[in-house]
Amino acid sequence: MSKKVLITGAAGFIGFHSSKRLIEEGYEVIGIDNFNNYYDVKLKKARIEYIEKSKKSIHKKWKFIKCDLLERTKLDEIFDKYNPEYVLNLAAQAGVRYSIDNPSEYINSNIVGFMNLIECCRYNEVKHFIYASSSSVYGGNKTIPFKEDQGVNHPVSLYAATKRSNELIAHTYSHLYNLPSTGLRFFTVYGPWGRPDMAYYIFTSKILKGEPIKIFNHGKMLRDFTYIDDVTNVISKIIHKIPKSNIKFDLSNPVPSKSWAPFKIFNVGNSNPMELITFIKIIENKLGLKAKKELLSMQLGDVEATSSDLGLIDEWVGFKPETSIEKGIEIFINWYKDYYNI
Ligand SMILES: NC(=O)c1ccc[n+]([C@@H]2O[C@H](COP(=O)([O-])OP(=O)(O)OC[C@H]3O[C@@H](n4cnc5c(N)ncnc54)[C@H](O)[C@@H]3O)[C@@H](O)[C@H]2O)c1
Repeated sequence: MSKKVLITGAAGFIGFHSSKRLIEEGYEVIGIDNFNNYYDVKLKKARIEYIEKSKKSIHKKWKFIKCDLLERTKLDEIFDKYNPEYVLNLAAQAGVRYSIDNPSEYINSNIVGFMNLIECCRYNEVKHFIYASSSSVYGGNKTIPFKEDQGVNHPVSLYAATKRSNELIAHTYSHLYNLPSTGLRFFTVYGPWGRPDMAYYIFTSKILKGEPIKIFNHGKMLRDFTYIDDVTNVISKIIHKIPKSNIKFDLSNPVPSKSWAPFKIFNVGNSNPMELITFIKIIENKLGLKAKKELLSMQLGDVEATSSDLGLIDEWVGFKPETSIEKGIEIFINWYKDYYNI
């Protein structure tokens, strides 16, 4: 019997790639998504169609259900019917800048929705609850690379605050109900079938149309761009690596990344931060076009630099990122041109 995993946000960028990857590895995947209109719903539907049109052997291992994390009764029915052993929570209201004008979306999906899902995991005695956190939890920290044991109590956006809250809620459930949980702090994930609200996607689209691109903080922002296949590699390794209780946990020195409870938190990045302006040059080179650049100052809620230390995740599952930014951008641009018939 194949193992069952419920993936939330399955029509999203990381959810789509994770669904595809885990189906290929023999998991039975139950995907849910509410198809919200934060960005082009056609792209979300196309991702689902892509999986559904795949080979029959893959298709049989896949079930998609339109469901919002706020629909608690429907979630209960899904858990009763499919009884997933693993849950991968990728559904969330993403985006830092959108949270400035739309705070309630973040509280609804990322806090209330998260709580509904973790309650289902608790009552269904799920073997492992894995959820997306974010590099944005490091907030105002200036010491890079970011390590999981740094303090993360100074968020600079509501998005970051909801992601940090997820980690704290997960810890509570790991402690109270012995629910094994792993939080993954993703660092700027990019790749084919990506997110149209993210800078690399907007830059590509505008450069191709000859329109000017807005470059915040004059392009001096440092980002640890992480290719999607490196992210799904981690997910594939981590899903069956279940955290255990640790009676040796040092309560006199309670490091944030560990616990006595079956709870873990890891950075998932590329460990190779790059200035935005250099990243744009790579896009220009791959497109063979020059961008019209509009240099602007920092935006509210943004952080100047993200950079991941990957020591902990490497020690836990043996992970080293494998895709160079040049290669990753080339794959993205080839996909982009194909998808939009350019
Ligand atoms: N892509 C990145 O660079 C990045 C970085 C850090 C963290 N993350 C986190 O990783 C996760 C996946 O991100 P992504 O880039 O794939 O984003 P995405 O927006 O492409 O995917 C999220 C999906 O969740 C769905 N969704 C949102 N609210 C929902 C709800 N209440 N009920 C059901 N479905 C809902 C959306 O329709 C969407 O398809 C998110 O939690 C995000 O915050 C992503």
